[in-house]
Amino acid sequence: MKLLIIGASGVLGSRLFNDAIKKKWNAMGTYCSHECAGLSYLDVRDKNSLEKVFNLFKPEAVVMAGGITDVDLCTLKPKLAEDVNVKGTLNLVKKIKEYGAKLIYISTDYIFDGKNGPYKEDDKPNPVNIYGRTKLEAENIVRTRLKDYLIVRTCQLYGAAEQKPRTSPQASYAVNVVQNSNFAIKIIYNMRNNKKVYAADDLYSTPTYAGSLSEIIIKLIEKKAKGVYHGAGAEFINRYDYVNKIADIFGLDERLIQKVKLKDLELKAVRPSKGGLKVDKLIKEKIAKPYDCETGLIFLKKDMSYA
Ligand SMILES: NC(=O)c1ccc[n+]([C@@H]2O[C@H](COP(=O)([O-])OP(=O)(O)OC[C@H]3O[C@@H](n4cnc5c(N)ncnc54)[C@H](OP(=O)(O)O)[C@@H]3O)[C@@H](O)[C@H]2O)c1
Repeated sequence: MKLLIIGASGVLGSRLFNDAIKKKWNAMGTYCSHECAGLSYLDVRDKNSLEKVFNLFKPEAVVMAGGITDVDLCTLKPKLAEDVNVKGTLNLVKKIKEYGAKLIYISTDYIFDGKNGPYKEDDKPNPVNIYGRTKLEAENIVRTRLKDYLIVRTCQLYGAAEQKPRTSPQASYAVNVVQNSNFAIKIIYNMRNNKKVYAADDLYSTPTYAGSLSEIIIKLIEKKAKGVYHGAGAEFINRYDYVNKIADIFGLDERLIQKVKLKDLELKAVRPSKGGLKVDKLIKEKIAKPYDCETGLIFLKKDMSYA
């Protein structure tokens, strides 16, 4: 399998890139602004860089795990979100058609409004923020322009970014914390540094361990799956309970956890308060068994044993 992974400097992409290499697939991974050893440069806004990568590698399949994933940044910089997440996906889809590759597009539970989660694959989308709107627009581009596509929606990813920044060969925990917007890692970092953390008990999701999602994506590619799948954790949980589980597994001081309401956090972007994804389709089709939080967090702790 010749697999191109766009966003291999990110949390999901880095894990998937390493897992694909372990499987002896011919994998190429890309970064955009955080140069990493072993990865090639690609900005989906830049048609020349897309052509260069496709022409050099000629992928059979492409996982699009790249983009602007910071939900509040999307609200603060809507043009950036539109340029990367929507127009960038359109540029990619055109290249995919030209080279006859299969696209695996990674999407989000934020395409739903969060009134009634967790959601099934065929529930009606109704995004409440710019991030969700750009991801849904990108999904629609993929759906309407390609025949052989896979959309894998995920939710509240956690994992340790696995790529080594070129500027700092001994990739450190602190560098990873700064570079990605991964909620669990930030909580662990702050609590280890004796800082208070705030967790809303009215914000629900199905947190997803990046290693589990990587396994799900690989299985879906192997099975030549098409259409839409939800690849998420198996547990529907609120942030306060989730942060308590993190503290428990990582041996952190639970007195640092402050229970709040979502509105108290004064976030820039509206959040779907009852988000999350149902994974019944994955289980029914025997593709993978998604993890509960405890299992995923124990794996995360092993991944971070260098920290
Ligand atoms: N994080 C979550 O909780 C979550 C939840 C639901 C869905 N998702 C979806 O899952 C996927 C992976 O998320 P993640 O958290 O692993 O992402 P991440 O850690 O934020 O990484 C984003 C990746 O996108 C790359 N990128 C940014 N701008 C780009 C551009 N213009 N062209 C090409 N690549 C670009 C980044 O490269 P540089 O860092 O080198 O610039 C990085 O490799 C995304 O599609 C996201 O929407 C994430």
